Amino acid sequence: MPEDPVKELRQLVVSLGEWLKYQRRLGRLGEPKKAGPRSQEQAPVINLFPNLTEIRAELGDCRRCKLAARRTHIVFGDGASRAALMFSGEGPGEEEDLQGLPFVGAAGQLLNNLLNKLGLKREEVYIANVVKCRPLGNRDPEADEITACLPFLKKQINAIRPQVIVTLGRIATQALLDTKTPLTRLRGQWQRYRQIPVMPTFHPSYLLRFPKERHKTWEDMQRVMEFLVAHEEI
Ligand code: URA
Repeated sequence: MPEDPVKELRQLVVSLGEWLKYQRRLGRLGEPKKAGPRSQEQAPVINLFPNLTEIRAELGDCRRCKLAARRTHIVFGDGASRAALMFSGEGPGEEEDLQGLPFVGAAGQLLNNLLNKLGLKREEVYIANVVKCRPLGNRDPEADEITACLPFLKKQINAIRPQVIVTLGRIATQALLDTKTPLTRLRGQWQRYRQIPVMPTFHPSYLLRFPKERHKTWEDMQRVMEFLVAHEEI
């Protein structure tokens, strides 16, 4: 037992107050969160991790893997820096490589439609990929490419701190969850990346090829929306 618990508690409060002042001086502390959906302005902003701008700067003109040689643009990510809902695909395709934005090709159109049907705007969520440069011919990213790039997706997650992550397809799901379990066994079942709930679902490209499976991703997204609504994040 401390000698004087009241004195010790007071000291703790003073230290916490000093720490909060320090964080405010660094611009890392916003106003306390009010009830209702989190917005860019209202978000509680205690986050000691690098922000998205800092992470993009660290990525620089990346040459960490062989994908760099043939890329047009690095496709870093797109959307709200404090999004409650974050998506990760596997890597940019041709159109994404040309525009420097994730999911802007045919698969992106399907993802946009899904978001619309859920009543979400693309700019309200954050969309990224495991690898930031296009694997030519739309092949799967290789293990060394994933190893080089995955730390940046993880940093993006730390910066955004979403309430839910939706992994699109096998590559994103297995890479983020660090597992070899087949997507068919993970899809539609809540997983966790650190403390963050993860909902693995089908990749939109797969759904373009197998439209009959779309209802499964729709069901997965219903569960995500239920979770977000229950936590007042949407
Ligand atoms: N497929 C992906 O996995 N990501 C994109 O950005 C586009 C297509």
